[in-house]
Amino acid sequence: MDIIKTIQEMTQRSAEWKKNDKKIGLVPTMGYLHEGHLALVRQARAENDLVVVSIFVNPLQFSPQEDLGRYPRNLERDLALLETQYVNAVFNPAPEEMYPADFNAAVEVQGLTEMLEGAGRPGHFRGVTTVVAKLFHIVNPGTAYFGQKDAQQVAVIRKMVRDLNFPLKITVCPTRRESDGLAMSSRNVYLSTEQRASAIVLYRALSAAKTAWESGEREGARLRNIMEQTLAIEPLAQPDYVSAANPDSLQEYEGLIEAGQGVLLSLAVQFGPTRLIDNFLLSDFTRAI
Ligand code: PAJ
Repeated sequence: MDIIKTIQEMTQRSAEWKKNDKKIGLVPTMGYLHEGHLALVRQARAENDLVVVSIFVNPLQFSPQEDLGRYPRNLERDLALLETQYVNAVFNPAPEEMYPADFNAAVEVQGLTEMLEGAGRPGHFRGVTTVVAKLFHIVNPGTAYFGQKDAQQVAVIRKMVRDLNFPLKITVCPTRRESDGLAMSSRNVYLSTEQRASAIVLYRALSAAKTAWESGEREGARLRNIMEQTLAIEPLAQPDYVSAANPDSLQEYEGLIEAGQGVLLSLAVQFGPTRLIDNFLLSDFTRAI
């Protein structure tokens, strides 16, 4: 496994692979890897000749009051994990390599980025699309792998790829969870024992709304209300937002959801200083019957 620190070396390597008609799969990450990341790596490994994992804690996607400085890192452990997955190259640039002092460009998707995660974190998605666009150019993969855990990120990146004609495919992998349902996240390490126990309330809230959906509830406001009521039971949980939205436009459903439409249930909840997100993507099976 090669550890590549410079853009020049990564670009050269990927050009050589391309010349030899190799299929390249890219898994972008910010490191501190867990099973959720490794599921993406495994899928990339199964579908490509060469797998590149990027590890880069992207300063552009953190706002000044966010956790850039204390974002968990453990490169040595990450590299050991990736070695066991037969990854070919890890791209691990320094911040100055990606953003030299005169760096002055950005990629921005409008329309999908102002709500949900974007509402409380202005500039977040601009940071994500800018770094992901750079990674796509540097690694030049045929397929890039992302997790459903960050549903809005997937929608925004898909739109960027479509609108700006990036010549690659986006593959989305299901959310990996702990045995009690908590979605795996690098931020889970911040939780105290009490907060960790309370954090399953996200999964409970989503599950309650899913049960209602499956028994025919099609009122957007009602689905949000069910999630809110579940969160309210947990004193340590401070909800940031609760959403039942159209999976493509991310617009909140206000009235009755039409037959055939799916729903993206999503929520963000604060536990002390730690903010957790989760979602369920539900389709409407009633039309198929
Ligand atoms: P990071 O949070 O490290 O996540 C890297 C990838 O792993 C993302 O596609 C994310 O959706 C996926 N992932 C995280 N937890 C997961 C889980 N429990 N199950 C399945 N997939 C999961 O997302 C980012 O980094 C950054 O925004 C990045 C895209 C790398 C740009 O900086």
